[in-house]
Amino acid sequence: MGQNFLKHFRKEINAIKIRFFLTAARHRKLYITTEPPTPVGSFFHQMLYMGSVRSMKVLVLTGAGISAESGIPTFRGVDGLWEGHRVEEVATPTAFDQNPELVHRFYNTRRRHLLQKDVRPNAAHIALAEYEANHDDDFLLITQNVDHLHFAAGSQNVLPMHGQLLEARCTQTDKVYPWFEDLSPNTPDPETPSRRGNLRPNVVWFGEMPYGMEKIQQAARNADLFLAIGTSAVVYPAAGIVQQTPLNCQRVEINLDTTPQSKVFTETIRGPATVEVPKFLRRVQESCKNTNEH
Ligand code: OAD
Repeated sequence: MGQNFLKHFRKEINAIKIRFFLTAARHRKLYITTEPPTPVGSFFHQMLYMGSVRSMKVLVLTGAGISAESGIPTFRGVDGLWEGHRVEEVATPTAFDQNPELVHRFYNTRRRHLLQKDVRPNAAHIALAEYEANHDDDFLLITQNVDHLHFAAGSQNVLPMHGQLLEARCTQTDKVYPWFEDLSPNTPDPETPSRRGNLRPNVVWFGEMPYGMEKIQQAARNADLFLAIGTSAVVYPAAGIVQQTPLNCQRVEINLDTTPQSKVFTETIRGPATVEVPKFLRRVQESCKNTNEH
């Protein structure tokens, strides 16, 4: 009698544990695994099991590496933009106060470069835009890049957290204007031409607050899939976004090299963005298709 009771009791406890796990998993509050990082296929089966595969929350973070194959130099490493310049001289509010000519010259050169005909979106930008257009997912693309290549590729939901170089901002009103010309301390205000020198490139400098942080943090907290592409993960707050994604979020890093955050990702893919981004997104699409057919 005593043994039967114990057996029955254990069975009940196990059933309760299983019910608890399934309910929690369904509500995506709990994701327990002793498995090593899951390949994307099984991740999507997991998502189906949790009933949310049809509308995933996809968050993408891009850095200079995604535009490198479009001919735009990255910041760090050999031939990187910061190799020839000290950040403090050209990318801080103090630098702009003390030597606006130098700061304008630095960004004018980069703006002219962006406007060259051969600077075009590459296969990685295009794959992201196509993925967004062809899926019902809740999709947000955060970019640290100040180039316009995600927009040119057709991406819709883009948040340029470090601003846009093809825009100028009034230092007094914060009004933003599309801008394709050189800027100088003498540039007339577009609305009141008698006023001069109040325009700056609409880029975020060190010591300033990136755009959209609240939206970014909320998207990170809710992400099912977080994809970081071509970023060295050394500049915060962008580098810390991965840490804000939930435990059950699949975190994938695509980069030529290892970064200080690589170990936080569930999958790291080493290779050029133009090859690996389209390949990865095809894999996601295939997994979704297979899962939906089951
Ligand atoms: P970085 O120049 O720091 O890093 C570029 C990353 O891209 C490196 O990790 C490279 O390994 C990788 N990479 C290069 N070519 C690649 C390719 N073809 N395919 C895949 N990966 C590639 O640029 P960011 O991480 O974007 O901020 O830099 C972050 C911020 O630091 C920038 O937004 C800028 C800079 O200072 C400001 O100016 C405020």
